[in-house]
Amino acid sequence: MLQRLIFEKIEQRILVGTLAFLAMMVLVGWIAINEGGRMAAFEQQFLARSIERGASLFAANCSSCHGLDSRGLGGRAPALNSPYLFGHDYFADIRREEQTLNSEKINAATSPERVVEIDARLAELENERQARLAQFGGLENIPGDYDPLAPSRLSNLGYAGSLRSYILTTLIHGRPNSSQYWDNPMVAWGQLAGGPMRMDQLEDLTNYILNYDKGDAWTVEDAVAVRQYPITVVDIAQAGPPRETIAPPDTDPTTIDLDAAVAELGNFQGNPQTGQTLYNGALGCAGCHLNAIVAPPLEGTWTRVVETRAPATGLSPEAYAVHSILHPNEYVAPGAPYIEQANYAPAMPANFAGRLTYQELADLLAFLQTHDEPVPG
Ligand code: HEC
Ligand code: HEC
Repeated sequence: MLQRLIFEKIEQRILVGTLAFLAMMVLVGWIAINEGGRMAAFEQQFLARSIERGASLFAANCSSCHGLDSRGLGGRAPALNSPYLFGHDYFADIRREEQTLNSEKINAATSPERVVEIDARLAELENERQARLAQFGGLENIPGDYDPLAPSRLSNLGYAGSLRSYILTTLIHGRPNSSQYWDNPMVAWGQLAGGPMRMDQLEDLTNYILNYDKGDAWTVEDAVAVRQYPITVVDIAQAGPPRETIAPPDTDPTTIDLDAAVAELGNFQGNPQTGQTLYNGALGCAGCHLNAIVAPPLEGTWTRVVETRAPATGLSPEAYAVHSILHPNEYVAPGAPYIEQANYAPAMPANFAGRLTYQELADLLAFLQTHDEPVPG
């Protein structure tokens, strides 16, 4: 009986062996081809769960400011579920056609008759743009800054990274300075930056927010359903209601009565924490005073002011600090021993009197006074 199952001829054995081998390869190939699909399904499930977790974290922690539907809340926080954050361009087709036509137009080989045609089409496209823009009428009543013709939040901010990293880093670090143009700032959420959330939670939140993207399907209704757009801040001095700065913007510092400013400052109580936020934020103080390369370092500032600068200038330490912020070129701090070259590369801006209120100057001073550690040398 078994005998019959055994192939006698060597040719038959080879044939059976080859067929078995081929069958194996087909099987392996089939599994390999399907593995991609299986993994993709797995990843999709993984992403779906991450988005779900992100949704509940969002409802619990973020909706009070950004709104449960992420369309923002007036005066509290900007929309995240918005064509602006995702950079949707409602005019992309018009822009593309204009580009093609314009490059054809400047081509020397283009005939004058064709140029006339091109100009006619360009005029039509401009009409089309205006007609489309008119559909956004509802935007007028929405607070914040959104111009459908400058459609990308990230490019408007000069941010070159991906939207994912923009969201994730915003979550990690918050926007400590946003209290200067919002009632409540976006705080740091990442444990990395002293916040309450783990990295995987921030990634869940990021996946949740990214899931609002509609690709090419964003509509005008989406744009006008937003309750609050971001506030664009060029300079904190320009944001919000007019501010009572120490001097009008761009006042020549040589014309400021510094003694009077020092006296007036006596009426203000500084808060070092606010001062720190100002110092590290939009004023750019930290950028220059970071590591003793382009400016005297922050560390030991107050010790230096008390022990070296005040005696050298005959001013009180407070007065010296006020002078050096409001009129930095009056007395240029010598470089050594803090840095090698005494002629600092970018001079300290001389416009802070026009950008700071007395309260902010007092806050900055209070912060500098906490740097009474030994002077690094
Ligand atoms: C106390 C109010 C408040 C809470 C709570 C809050 N945010 Fe914000 N958030 C803001 C404000 C205000 C801004 C705008 C900051 C700015 O313009 O610099 C902002 C900005 C953002 C941005 C950047 C948007 C943009 O267009 O640049 C993201 C993303 C964001 N928040 C996500 C979150 C997430 C996720 C949570 C919950 C973990 C959260 N926020 C909780 C107030 C808040
Ligand atoms: C563009 C770079 C730059 C920026 C921005 C800048 N500084 Fe300066 N700062 C300098 C340089 C350079 C010096 C040293 C030359 C001098 O005394 O003017 C200086 C000097 C000072 C001094 C005197 C330090 C000493 O050792 O005597 C103080 C105090 C000071 N800056 C505070 C600030 C504060 C506060 C801000 C933000 C409101 C700020 N700086 C922003 C470059 C800068």
